[in-house]
Amino acid sequence: MAFYKIKKVWKLKDNKVTPENFYNTRRDFLKKLGAGSLFLPGTSFISRPAFSSLYPPEVNKTYTISKPLSPESLVTTYTNFYEFGSSKNIWRRASKLKTEPWSITIDGLVDNPMVIDINDLIKKLGGIEERVYRFRCVEAWSMTVPWAGFPLNKILSLVEPKKDAKFLKFETFYDPEIAPGQKQKWYPWPYQEGITIEEAKNELSFLATGIYGKKLPNQNGAPLRLVLPWKYGFKSIKSIVKISLLAERPIGLWEKLAPNEYGFWANVNPKVSHPRWSQETEQQLGIDGRIPTVKYNGYEEQVSYLYKGLEKTLQDKLFR
Ligand code: MTE
Repeated sequence: MAFYKIKKVWKLKDNKVTPENFYNTRRDFLKKLGAGSLFLPGTSFISRPAFSSLYPPEVNKTYTISKPLSPESLVTTYTNFYEFGSSKNIWRRASKLKTEPWSITIDGLVDNPMVIDINDLIKKLGGIEERVYRFRCVEAWSMTVPWAGFPLNKILSLVEPKKDAKFLKFETFYDPEIAPGQKQKWYPWPYQEGITIEEAKNELSFLATGIYGKKLPNQNGAPLRLVLPWKYGFKSIKSIVKISLLAERPIGLWEKLAPNEYGFWANVNPKVSHPRWSQETEQQLGIDGRIPTVKYNGYEEQVSYLYKGLEKTLQDKLFR
């Protein structure tokens, strides 16, 4: 990842910004639509909309944030998806990705391996919920986002890992005809990422299928992406086709490319600089000025137990 000096590319006219209250009003409106159909004054009868009845999902109130949500218009247009190019502005190109049908392979050291369609998977897991998380990119920008999806540990219950499964490896699709970035041979495609099985069991580890009360748009990683809010954003792999349970630690795409810059752990830590820039502050999408970055991105209480005894190693080896 090149250091991206954040220009105010997201500066929008006031009327394009979606403040939280508008989001909530629209959410209620969508819910009513989803619940059946309704009459609007001055309009004709609106029948049940085409989008899936899963959206917008119930809010899980354990995971809410006091600060305003980032504007949806920025979160869905200022994106990192190197399969479609290295600029932030790839959202139109990403629309080429066909996300239906979409099957996911879950294999490796499990008692119950499977190849399953994303819609069947959601059904099997009992649906989806909404959680608002902070998200911090290694490039020092951040956002606050309402994700829809399910906890990753539900997948573990489904496939039943064997005793020697210690890591999860995630893999994105590979199709250079659709994703022109994958024609660039110096990247070790497909995009891969990995975490420990203990991290996967953590309550915060989430697989997202939606955002802002709707299905994920392609550019944000449809139809299924990882969200690990206490880690730098590159760990949150998009458009997953395969999850493998392994005994050995997997090596992610960025770690393969630049192991001194992008390590395995990648926990947000303002005290450990990236070799080329400080991580002490961050720029929030759509908001002027910088704010201090917080250890584990503010989720210390939920995740610090995972790294007890490892702190010194993590400090010594950058944020690896
Ligand atoms: N997943 C894939 N497959 N390809 C990518 O290029 N970029 C990562 C991560 N997941 C990336 C990916 C990085 S660097 C970040 S910061 C987040 O996605 C950005 O998520 P967003 O674009 O939805 O904000």
